[in-house]
Amino acid sequence: MITVSEILNKQELSKEDIIYLLSITSKEEHDALIKKAYSVKESYLGKNDYLRGLIELSNQCKKNCLYCGIRAENSKVSRYSISDEEVLQVTEFALKNKFTGIVLQSGEQSNAHFTKRITELIIKIKKITYPEFRITLSLGEQSFETYKEWFDAGAQRYLLRIESSGEELYNKIHPDNELHDYKTRLQCLENIQKVGYQTGTGVMIGLPFQTIENLADDLLFLKKMNIDMAGMGPYIEHTDTPLYKHKDLLLPILERFNLSLRMIAILRIMMPDINIVSTTALQSIVPMGRERGLKAGANVLMPNLTPGKYRSSYLLYENKACIDEEADECLDCLANRVKMIGEEIAYSEDGDSKHFTLRNRISLEFNEKRLS
Ligand code: 5AD
Ligand code: SF4
Ligand code: FES
Repeated sequence: MITVSEILNKQELSKEDIIYLLSITSKEEHDALIKKAYSVKESYLGKNDYLRGLIELSNQCKKNCLYCGIRAENSKVSRYSISDEEVLQVTEFALKNKFTGIVLQSGEQSNAHFTKRITELIIKIKKITYPEFRITLSLGEQSFETYKEWFDAGAQRYLLRIESSGEELYNKIHPDNELHDYKTRLQCLENIQKVGYQTGTGVMIGLPFQTIENLADDLLFLKKMNIDMAGMGPYIEHTDTPLYKHKDLLLPILERFNLSLRMIAILRIMMPDINIVSTTALQSIVPMGRERGLKAGANVLMPNLTPGKYRSSYLLYENKACIDEEADECLDCLANRVKMIGEEIAYSEDGDSKHFTLRNRISLEFNEKRLS
């Protein structure tokens, strides 16, 4: 029978190998996988982690994803939208604290007014920052033209999780209507890449109905899509959502946590030079969850810079970490935590995914050759 160390020495992991690694139950084997992933991170990226400041712009959302606490039909949520002035203040804070970028995230809104507002906001942010300061968007599904307009205004990265790369499971966790169409999601992701963004996607781990084979397919999907960034985290049930009724199907929360670490570790081995986020959802389960994510191969942290008064209204899931803290409290806390595990925050670099930089260089050289 094949052993974990034999699999970890392979050049390329097959679907069977991935399934084997995801199914590990012994602590020794789990630890060996995590250790291997960390050594890959160290040799490709060093012991450096990037910081992005997360701004949760608005919890208004037109969608009704069955797992999400801020879905449109959840009438218990009080809806907010942060003003441009507040966003600029947060950006100043990020600059002062040597962040090299921010992430603008919001519930999904798509209309001409929203598109224009974001375009203008990007331009305002560009005006008060320096050229290498990166703006990442996580604003859901939009038209090709909108993605292009925001890119041309100065945003360089886009995150859109596929949530599950399997159409059947995707359909089980979303309402059955045009607004929640798997093929549209996929098309959006392709459009984001086509526009030229550094592209990030990811999945939730430990969903009801999800199998280990689904998760192996997810990892192969990320590799096939040749993504630059990944954000994957455990699914955490929320009482006021339709998916909650399937809570008895869920793995115990700590198993979901460990499975998430193994997903991160395997992805790091499969795609050594991409950026992988250690998500807040990990932290919400285990107090040192995000640090454990970094030790499993993740290299990006997204501390929440949303002004404190809005934080408790952006609860995608329950028991979310850091909702009672203000941005500066999280910053001090995070810097200490990263030091504690023997790593450093890379303040001076732009934090671009090495994968993206390399990918771009190769296509530039290719074009130059073609033209010469
Ligand atoms: N548990 C974990 N992650 C969730 N998200 C939404 N709801 C939940 C939940 N209950 C994630 C989705 C979405 C991202 C912004 O938050 O993956 O893309
Ligand atoms: Fe809206 Fe995103 Fe939540 Fe879906 S996951 S309901 S699109 S905020
Ligand atoms: Fe938010 Fe520690 S990172 S309180």
